[in-house]
Amino acid sequence: MARTVHSCTECGHETAGWLGRCPGCGEWNTLVEQRVEPAAAGAGSVSRRTARAAKAVPLAEVQAPPLRRLESGIGELDRVLGGGLVPGSLVLLGGSPGIGKSTITASALGCLAAAGRSVLYVSGEESAVQVRLRAERLGEDALRVPIVAETDLEVVEATLEAETPDVCVVDSVQTLHAGELTGAAGSVGQVREVAGRLARIAKRRGVAIVLVGHVTKDGALAGPRVLEHLVDCVLQFEGERERTYRTLRALKNRFGSTNEVGVFEMREHGLVEVADPSARFVDEASRAPGSVVLCAMEGSRPLLVEVQALVAQSMLDAPRRVANGVDRNRLALVLAVLARHAGVSLGSCDVFVSVAGGVRVDEPGADLAVALALGSAARGVALGSDGRPLAAFGEVGLTGELRHVAHPDRRMAEAAKFGLEPVVAPDGRLRTLRAALAETLGAGAESTPRAA
Ligand code: TYD
Ligand code: MG
Repeated sequence: MARTVHSCTECGHETAGWLGRCPGCGEWNTLVEQRVEPAAAGAGSVSRRTARAAKAVPLAEVQAPPLRRLESGIGELDRVLGGGLVPGSLVLLGGSPGIGKSTITASALGCLAAAGRSVLYVSGEESAVQVRLRAERLGEDALRVPIVAETDLEVVEATLEAETPDVCVVDSVQTLHAGELTGAAGSVGQVREVAGRLARIAKRRGVAIVLVGHVTKDGALAGPRVLEHLVDCVLQFEGERERTYRTLRALKNRFGSTNEVGVFEMREHGLVEVADPSARFVDEASRAPGSVVLCAMEGSRPLLVEVQALVAQSMLDAPRRVANGVDRNRLALVLAVLARHAGVSLGSCDVFVSVAGGVRVDEPGADLAVALALGSAARGVALGSDGRPLAAFGEVGLTGELRHVAHPDRRMAEAAKFGLEPVVAPDGRLRTLRAALAETLGAGAESTPRAA
């Protein structure tokens, strides 16, 4: 019978039972339950005298068989995975509740089943009936997927051993529990144990396992965070529940590049890939004052998104600064540079900046588009020409200079595809934010803004 101990995540101190405070280091809430494997006689660590030295091999001589990939048939998902699921790998799919994790995994298994792969859906969260109701919306393929509604880890392990499917989805990792541990399902100890044991089956049987995990807004809750080092690939499903667009990114990928992003739209019959998101966002751009199209890079892929800004006279002592989809700190920096180096002072105004469609852009290349959108909003002047929105990218430095960012040619090419030329970007001619504002807003750009 396996024994469990509680060990401190800070100092490693072990106690038999759970305590609120670690006796070793005095930290609170750091004791996590862990299983101790009883060491079989003669097994365990080999003594130094009897161990044989391992032979080191030059990396060039290591045989690397080509990776097999199981394509889910959902193009955007496969691209983010680096070409499809790798047999024997463990993928963690994180995201807040209601974002569409169960929907995308059910569709993916449906496609795989239709392509002749054996699949298994383990639902610890919803009953088989509830999963069926969802599958009905997703179509015939999703209804072919065999389901087990189970929360007992041992039963899931036995089922996997017996069925050895090509791909298994566990929805969610927080609902399974191992009998040996006393902690509640979803506690750090349980989640780690569940993932560790499923990882062993995945490797041994060559099953690709997708673990679904919830993350709270602050990502703090016991769960996905503690698993990141254990799994081969961490996918994050993001977006606002009220909006239709969802983005899927790889935060970690042992079998492909990270920073790839897939864009989806939640419709009545499930998630639909948005194969050409730039076209969609440019088409929807408002072309009104405060709107600028940003040529962003999402991994290796250029993506055009609309940045919108609103500037309004504030009634508050500390005016509002609201950022949706861009980093708050970068917005603060852009506002400071606008005031100090470009003559656009918005200190008495409420400022709202958002990336349309609920997309999030996390790169310094967004600065210039944000600054131009703010300038345009403050002046009440629409940018762009001939009914086409203005496109821009570039980093804004602390002294008001424009700085180069990665892949300017790809960003330019993407803008050109939609007839958005010329693009405002740092180059030999345009060196400062002040110059960029003067060029786009025309004369008078340096006067005090007219808060709309
Ligand atoms: P779900 O996949 O259950 O989210 P998660 O597993 O991440 O918690 O579904 C998310 C939401 O999507 C749900 O509130 C209903 C909606 N939805 C649709 O709009 N269309 C659909 O076809 C489906 C299946 C769900
Ligand atoms: Mg779900």
